[in-house]
Amino acid sequence: MTQKPKILIANGPNLGILGRRQPGIYGTESLDAVVEAVRRRVGAAAEVEHLQTNHEGVLIDRLNDIAHDPLYLGVILNAGAWTHTSLAVADAVAAMDTPVIEVHISNVYAREGIRHTSLIAPACRGVIAGLGTHGYVLAADYLVSLVGK
Ligand code: DQA
Repeated sequence: MTQKPKILIANGPNLGILGRRQPGIYGTESLDAVVEAVRRRVGAAAEVEHLQTNHEGVLIDRLNDIAHDPLYLGVILNAGAWTHTSLAVADAVAAMDTPVIEVHISNVYAREGIRHTSLIAPACRGVIAGLGTHGYVLAADYLVSLVGK
C-alpha cells in the first residue's frame, strides 16, 4: 500500500498561546483551531502533523529529521521571532529538499523594522504574511497542489 503524503505544520515560540496572545495583532483563534482548519481543507489528500515548540533545537531536530523524506509534501513554517534572528533555523531550512512555506499571521512588513528581515525566506519556496491564520490554509492548498508532481 502506498503511504499517504504528509504535511508538517511547524510553529515556533509564543505561538502555543495563540488566541490569548495580543489578539489585536494575532486574532482570537487558537492554534488547535488553525491546525483543524488545515486538516479540514487538506481532507484525505495528506496527513497533517503539527509541532509547536518554544525550543529552537526541537524545531531544528524535526526539520533535520524530515529534510530529505520524500513522503513530505512540505512544511508550513511559522518560526515566530526566530524568523528574524535565527541563522540556525535558516540553515536547517536551507538544508531541506522538502519545500518550506514561511507563514506569518501578521503583516510583518507593516510592523517594527526588525520584523522586515527574514533570515529564512531566501531558503523558502514562498512566503505568506498578513492574511491572518488563513495563511496556513493557503499554504496547505499550495502543498496539496504538489501531489503527484
Ligand atoms: C509572527 C510574526 C513575528 O514577527 C513574531 O515574532 C511572531 C509571530 C506572525 O505570525 O505574525 O511570533 O511570525
